[in-house]
Amino acid sequence: MKNPLFPPPSDDYGPEPLRPWDHRPKESATPPLRGPTAAGGPPPACPAHGDRWEDEPVRLSTLDSDRPPAELYRELRARFGPVAPVLLDDDIPAWLALGYPEVAYVTGHDEEFGRDSRRWHQWENIPGDWPLLAYAGYQPSVFFAEGEEHRRRAGALTRALEAMDMYDVSLVCESVGRRLIDRFVHDGRVELLESYVHALPVRVMIELCGMPAGEDITENLAEDLRITLDAERGENPVEAYRRVARQLGALVTARRERPERDLTSYLVTDEAALTDTEAVHDLTVLILAGQQPTSNWICNALRLLLLDDRFADKVAGGRVGVPEALTETLWLDTPVQNFLGRWATRDTELGGRPVKQGDCVLLGLAAANTDPELWPHGGMGEGSTAHLSFSMGEHRCPHPSPQMARVIARTAIDTLLARLPDLAVAVEAEELRWRRSLWKRGLEELPVVFSAGGVREWTDRGAGRARSRETGLLRD
Ligand code: HEM
Repeated sequence: MKNPLFPPPSDDYGPEPLRPWDHRPKESATPPLRGPTAAGGPPPACPAHGDRWEDEPVRLSTLDSDRPPAELYRELRARFGPVAPVLLDDDIPAWLALGYPEVAYVTGHDEEFGRDSRRWHQWENIPGDWPLLAYAGYQPSVFFAEGEEHRRRAGALTRALEAMDMYDVSLVCESVGRRLIDRFVHDGRVELLESYVHALPVRVMIELCGMPAGEDITENLAEDLRITLDAERGENPVEAYRRVARQLGALVTARRERPERDLTSYLVTDEAALTDTEAVHDLTVLILAGQQPTSNWICNALRLLLLDDRFADKVAGGRVGVPEALTETLWLDTPVQNFLGRWATRDTELGGRPVKQGDCVLLGLAAANTDPELWPHGGMGEGSTAHLSFSMGEHRCPHPSPQMARVIARTAIDTLLARLPDLAVAVEAEELRWRRSLWKRGLEELPVVFSAGGVREWTDRGAGRARSRETGLLRD
């Protein structure tokens, strides 16, 4: 559908996917990673544990992502200590920070562990179709910026997000949720992840950015974003990414000419005076960075709510367990399990391991959250919000994204359970499978059944409003 606010996509805008080896590294070349094992030397110096820790790097692809993170990472920590030598796809070496203090240290010391991946000394060994390229391949966006430049770009994002009213965010979310539910409400059963959980956050984000609600142009952008993040066989993620960049470029142009009350307008009129290209890059990051983590947060919280007796009773009785399920999920099944990453700016040491300049350090967020040293008496996460699920430091998930993600997740679940109150998982709990990934934690599928037709659609928004205010989710 033609929309005058959205001129035809132009080729002038948009980030082209960049190959890191096309850029000159910031530092001079450093010797290849000499992990403790490759060097064949003595185990890393650790006065407390000495030679108890293993040095043979572990291939991340051999680890069982079906296991509960607390169990899996406890075992890794026992074998390797707080920092493990690991091998990524194609046997690319890296360090995995597993201890809470180590992850907190890395994220808190940008001058020692930088974000610009061009300093990695492994680029010459990395093939063009490397599966992790999307996460590590340098882009000139806020994601890989450092120092003053990062503060300028991240500051603009934070101010744009802060200008949004969380109440409006919940209304957009409720309306997107209702539209999605309408598509399957009469079927009595559905695979919930594809039809709702993964479809919702991306549509909410692009509508908040100013794309017109429910129109073809918005649906096409949502579909291209899905292909960019999670292409299926036969789909071309690079082409999809180019279309995304062109569409966001058109949106930036439109909002520069006529600002409205949306994220794009707040970003392009911000005091940081972003260029069009910078605005498109950072808008892309904003939309993409929040998409899968928020979907998987909803997925993992729903799994608890529908299957765990502690929550299931409450769900039937009025959804009082939703905030608790969301918080517990961040501690025990956090959506971003491991994050790639940081790159050492100089030779240093971490958790008893010798880290060389240009080495890659992965942030083991799930491991840090379940670090037994943090919870010597068990009871992980109870009464505390000090998890590292949104990371820490200069590059953490920028304020107020975590709050916005919570509003989206909470409203998505509330809207679903209000419309389909007898929603139940259609298979035995043991049949549900986690995605085979050590990066993101979420289920492969979540088939559900419910009474076809659901309950009467809300016509009175006030009910939702009152409920959200009662719970303190929204400000007046
Ligand atoms: C509305 C939803 C969200 C938005 C808009 C959003 C936005 C962003 C942005 C822009 C960044 C890049 C920050 C930078 O490099 O300076 C980021 C990083 C990150 N976000 Fe989010 N995010 C959202 C939801 C989430 C959720 C639900 C999680 C996990 C529970 C999460 C975890 C992270 C992590 C781990 C990083 C990497 C931080 C680091 O490098 O240390 N985000 N997010």
